Amino acid sequence: PSPRDATAAFPAPAVSARPVDRAAWIAAFAHVRAETERRAAPLSPEDQQIQSMADASPTKWHRAHTTWFFEQFLLREHLPGYAIYDERLHYLFNSYYVAAGPRQPRIARGLITRPTTEEIAAYRAHVDRAVTALLGQASPTALEAVLPILEIGLYHEQQHQELLVTDILHAFAQNPLGPAYDPDWRFLAASGARGTVDLPRGIAQVGHAGAGFSFDNESPRHDSLILPCALDRALVSNRDWLGFMADGGYARPELWLSDGWLAVQAEGWEAPGYWRRDGESWATMTLAGIRPVEPDLPVTHVSYYEADAYARWAGRDLPTEAEWEVAAGGGGLDDAFGLVWQWTRSAYTAYPGYRPLPGALGEYNGKFMSNQFVLRGSSVATPQGHARVPYRNFFYPHQRWQFTGLRLAQIHA
Ligand code: AVJ
Ligand code: FE
Repeated sequence: PSPRDATAAFPAPAVSARPVDRAAWIAAFAHVRAETERRAAPLSPEDQQIQSMADASPTKWHRAHTTWFFEQFLLREHLPGYAIYDERLHYLFNSYYVAAGPRQPRIARGLITRPTTEEIAAYRAHVDRAVTALLGQASPTALEAVLPILEIGLYHEQQHQELLVTDILHAFAQNPLGPAYDPDWRFLAASGARGTVDLPRGIAQVGHAGAGFSFDNESPRHDSLILPCALDRALVSNRDWLGFMADGGYARPELWLSDGWLAVQAEGWEAPGYWRRDGESWATMTLAGIRPVEPDLPVTHVSYYEADAYARWAGRDLPTEAEWEVAAGGGGLDDAFGLVWQWTRSAYTAYPGYRPLPGALGEYNGKFMSNQFVLRGSSVATPQGHARVPYRNFFYPHQRWQFTGLRLAQIHA
């Protein structure tokens, strides 16, 4: 399936489907677990060890943490007689669940050389066998509790599949040799669409609806006021961004939020993340190594601050997440999925009436609802079948190591 096709079947059945198709769930689990290993396979044990910054994690940590997630939230609670593989791993691979106990500081994940990469493979295999056994043997009543947790564990692991790729890109970008993660890797060309999707004034329903999976932060579905606006069908391209740079975009404080201007100065930003001068032109670090910047590709590795400054420079607006959702839901947005996550001007906050899940899993999304911005769509690194129209991704406004770009809008308020 094409990475452009965000509706390509993710193989998990609906949690509510009866009778429960155990074989389909076992296959979905195997599929997601294998995709993590497929993404890690090109990486040596040395590659898998490195943590290149606090926001990024080692590949082997991603492989272990996603495994811990199933052990902690599924096997510990729901598989009678399950013996924890190694209780000492709990501290190492608990990410941020305060209710689950103390944990290795995030910034120090790269200091953990033991267990080795090989030992983590054995941990994964152990948990794979236990989850598969649980799915085969659980009573129908037990399955009612098991499947929602299994499902969130699968989508959780897919989130880490994307992070694994973006984190190794950041690590490889620190290496002057510019190693290739995958020499054949290429961005898909953008659609080349022109024109806009025009939304009339009105009240639109946004948020998750229906029987399929959603994260808790997509609920409740609710009314949202849409002002008359037009969203570009196309993403902002590298060509567009070079125009911003040529017009002094990174040198004009009047274009920037105060915090953004501080970041420009503190970080020495003069171009998107991973760009480097190559004589008169620009090159960029990609998953295929260092490559010339291609004007027709969507700009990526820009922060919210940069997206905001670009929109101001262009005399345009970033869309709100509701505007994006309504436009994408109508099928009008080209390149909504599969290229770059798109910054919106919406703060990542709770939808009206939002309540986190009970227990430790309540920490999954809700506690991060301050000081971040929402991104919509999906990227070239997002696994097949993961993203959906109401999906809310979120990052801090200075962060730019993900595949983050933008599309512009015009608000006619
Ligand atoms: C939604 C991508 C911001 O990176 O912390 C991983 C995904 N949540 N494990 C993050 C996530 C729990 C999350 N983002
Ligand atoms: Fe996680």
